[in-house]
Amino acid sequence: MSTPLKVSRVGVVGCGLMGSGIAQVCAEAGYQVLVREVDEGFLKKGLGNIERFLAKGVEKGKVTPERKAEVLGRLKGTTDLGRMGECDLVVEVVTESLDVKRQVFQALDAACRPETIFASNTSSLSITEMAATTKRPSRFVGLHFFNPVPLMKLVEVVRSPLTDPAVYEEVAAFAASLGKTPVRASDKTGFVVNRLLVPYLLDAIRALEEGAGSIVDIDEGMRLGCGHPMGPLTLLDFVGLDTTYSIANIMFDEFREKRFAPPPLLKRMVQAGLYGRKTGRGFYDYSQEPPRPVAGLV
Ligand code: CAA
Repeated sequence: MSTPLKVSRVGVVGCGLMGSGIAQVCAEAGYQVLVREVDEGFLKKGLGNIERFLAKGVEKGKVTPERKAEVLGRLKGTTDLGRMGECDLVVEVVTESLDVKRQVFQALDAACRPETIFASNTSSLSITEMAATTKRPSRFVGLHFFNPVPLMKLVEVVRSPLTDPAVYEEVAAFAASLGKTPVRASDKTGFVVNRLLVPYLLDAIRALEEGAGSIVDIDEGMRLGCGHPMGPLTLLDFVGLDTTYSIANIMFDEFREKRFAPPPLLKRMVQAGLYGRKTGRGFYDYSQEPPRPVAGLV
């Protein structure tokens, strides 16, 4: 039987795009949040992103200035991983490398109480493999958020064969307390969403490679024909081509199925540094508004 634990203080390790979003939604839900980054510069940038999102919310009339101040008041930053010992639940949101994550969890194991729950926001690495390297595999889960975290309603809550069912229920309840809908998934690479989304995105690249339509045709087809908020090539630019390439490689390695194999065009674009919005160019050029499709990719 696991020790019952009421989560009140949440730790977020990593304050990049996803980490800052996760920290924000936890603070919005009333949790005290401690965010850790490797140095003051990254910390300032991550907390600055939260401040900007809330300020935009005020501009849009979605957030009151009082609410903004209240949310920011619940967020604290640190560069000391040892301070995660103050938290009841720690969400890891560092780079998608098993080695880096292992090192983080080793340090967290030493810093945190035995009952503290560990969660990883990984989108494609094995929760079981990570859990097994800690001293608390029964108190380890996947908590996979979606970008942009403050606006997307879904969280995948992922169990490994080692996860204590009571811990799993507690984390699912935690996800619901953030105003998100938890989807329960077992530790199969890609979980539920990426198992379906990644082959679709890769197929859109294959459709472009094979001349089925232009960048705009493919995007407008899926946006207007299927009611998707973004066409697949716009979504690829939004998620990041480097990120998608890495996820597809991990999924292909696991399943050895062609549907997960990254198409040559994706590989070439990653080699060329055309990662999408984050580098200013992917399938679209973001140097002007509205972004223009990039010519000559195929
Ligand atoms: N504060 C408060 N509210 C805000 C806000 C802010 N700063 N910014 C936006 N909002 C609100 C808006 O007011 C609006 O609310 P209403 O619906 O009540 O009007 C809503 O949020 C949507 O905002 P916008 O109108 O500005 O934006 P949009 O309608 O163009 O939607 C989007 C933007 C949500 C990103 C939408 O395009 C979308 O859903 N895209 C798909 C994103 C997606 O698929 N993400 C998942 C990627 S996969 C992943 O993350 C996992 C992985 O492992 C790869």
